[in-house]
Amino acid sequence: MASGYGSDFVDRVRAAVDMVALISETVALKRAGRKFRGLCPFHPEKTPSFHVDDAKGLFYCFGCQAGGDIFKFVMLRENLDFPQAARLLAQKSGIPVPAPRGPDGRPSEREALLAAHRAAAEFFHDLLVKRPEGAAARDYLAARGITGDTIARLQIGYAPDRWDSLKGHLTGKGFDTRLLVTGGLLSTNDERTSTYDRFRGRVIFPIRGVTGEVLGFGGRILGAVEPKYLNSAETPLYNKRENLFGLHETRQAIRDAGEAIVVEGYFDYASLWQAGVPHVVATLGTAFAEEQVALLRRFAGKVVINYDPDAAGASATRRSIELLVSAGLKVRVLRLDGGLDPDEYVRQRGLDDYMARVQAAPRHFDYLLGQAIRGKDLSDYEQKAAALREVIPALAQVPDRIERAGYVNSIAEKLGIDDDLTLAEIRDGVLKTPRPRPADARRSAGPAPAAELSESEARLIRGLLESAEIRNDVLARLGSEDLAGSAIEELFRAVEGLSEAGEDVSWTRLSEVLREPARSLVARLAVRSDPGISRDEALRCVESLRLRRLRRERDLLQKEMEHELSAARLDELLRRKMEVSRQIDSLS
Ligand code: GTP
Ligand code: MN
Repeated sequence: MASGYGSDFVDRVRAAVDMVALISETVALKRAGRKFRGLCPFHPEKTPSFHVDDAKGLFYCFGCQAGGDIFKFVMLRENLDFPQAARLLAQKSGIPVPAPRGPDGRPSEREALLAAHRAAAEFFHDLLVKRPEGAAARDYLAARGITGDTIARLQIGYAPDRWDSLKGHLTGKGFDTRLLVTGGLLSTNDERTSTYDRFRGRVIFPIRGVTGEVLGFGGRILGAVEPKYLNSAETPLYNKRENLFGLHETRQAIRDAGEAIVVEGYFDYASLWQAGVPHVVATLGTAFAEEQVALLRRFAGKVVINYDPDAAGASATRRSIELLVSAGLKVRVLRLDGGLDPDEYVRQRGLDDYMARVQAAPRHFDYLLGQAIRGKDLSDYEQKAAALREVIPALAQVPDRIERAGYVNSIAEKLGIDDDLTLAEIRDGVLKTPRPRPADARRSAGPAPAAELSESEARLIRGLLESAEIRNDVLARLGSEDLAGSAIEELFRAVEGLSEAGEDVSWTRLSEVLREPARSLVARLAVRSDPGISRDEALRCVESLRLRRLRRERDLLQKEMEHELSAARLDELLRRKMEVSRQIDSLS
């Protein structure tokens, strides 16, 4: 199986997980007959179109077409690939996770890289907390107020100032140097003749994916040497656009709060978290990337941006607001006073003071308006107009109409515009500005809608899966060629395949052997709550599908005849058409 895990393991996980309990962690499910229903977690909606059939082991949303089994649910909810979702569910159920194999039966490169990163993180951490070589780094962290507990919980480490310390350790454990170069743990000289440790003389922060695996590292130099930070470059494991530092540790708190505090740096994150701010993540000095926004949106609908109070922080704040707001998130902005970054602020003034500032942080538009007004003389008409022009694009971007109207009031108040005509014009102007479409939740959540499905097709698939007798009858009468080009062709083929191989033909098994969008179609059919199908009805469906195919064939033959010039060939076509017509007559 493509996941790298054997079907044995996957089956055991499936058997161990209570689907309703799992989905109930995110969705308030209500029982509806033998099934469950709730508000879809993958797209915004007000009436429930998300269905769970736990007897069949599948879910489906009629609103956004997201559907699948427990693994698919976790993949969508946590933004994971299949092996990650399988591991997560296994860990939850206390099932030991085997080392996945690549197609050739050896551990995949990804798994090998994960193992190397795990070993490297342990090595760096051990050096920091136990070895004499780590003393300077221990002092450095202590001087910055980072406690032993935080060091342990984040597995902070130290890379000694040598060229071959990690290299010696990992090659000694049997890791291949080429793999370590691929993973960005070792660097090569320009001639590619030798390799050496990438991280030297730095405090090391492991960067984890949402499920907790170490994907990369960030290293801070101890003194005032440049570059201050060295982070993992892009590798097959690590892409800085796709990860948020510390999300693994704080994601539950973020979900509980419905809000995340976003900071820039490792130390901002570590200090806030240590001080008792449970719902913080760090972007690592870049403004948000779209992938990071999508990731965060899976956990919270609200964000407080708290970047450094310098020019770079202000410009990153602007870019982040744009991305977050157009993705439909509610954004507030916290800019701390005294020129302090979040790390310094919380250490100097304490948790209560910091949290009070978070509470009082203005909504993003009021922040931008404040920025636009700063340093301007509003009694000067030109300057007032300039401030207005500055904020109009941000106003136009707010997706919610009522919220936008509220901001027009902010403008009136802060800019001192009391003329109704002007305000009406602002409103109008905003309405006319083309607004970027909020990033669509559906795009990331579900596959494209499957091809149009006829009622006979839907009923037939049901019969194939729910009764062995019907299945045998139908397979004897209908071939996949009868379904060529139809929505269920692939499903039908898969049922044929499973049946011929003497395998169990169930909804989950079917969903396993298919790919999108056929897989999503299986989920959609599985959660339908129409009554079961009788043998007679199934045979009628078979006839109507065969009839459809024959009619299509007759039409094709007719078209071909219209363009055929050879008499012999025309004869042949005519003969075939008459045969098809005869079959049609006998069926209808
Ligand atoms: P301290 O200066 O140690 O307090 O670091 P910080 O964690 O507060 O980081 P800062 O706010 O200066 O920068 C934010 C983030 O940007 C850092 O955590 C790094 O991820 C990244 N960053 C900062 N400087 C550099 C650099 O020189 N190179 C790289 N690659 N990243 C950097
Ligand atoms: Mn800092």
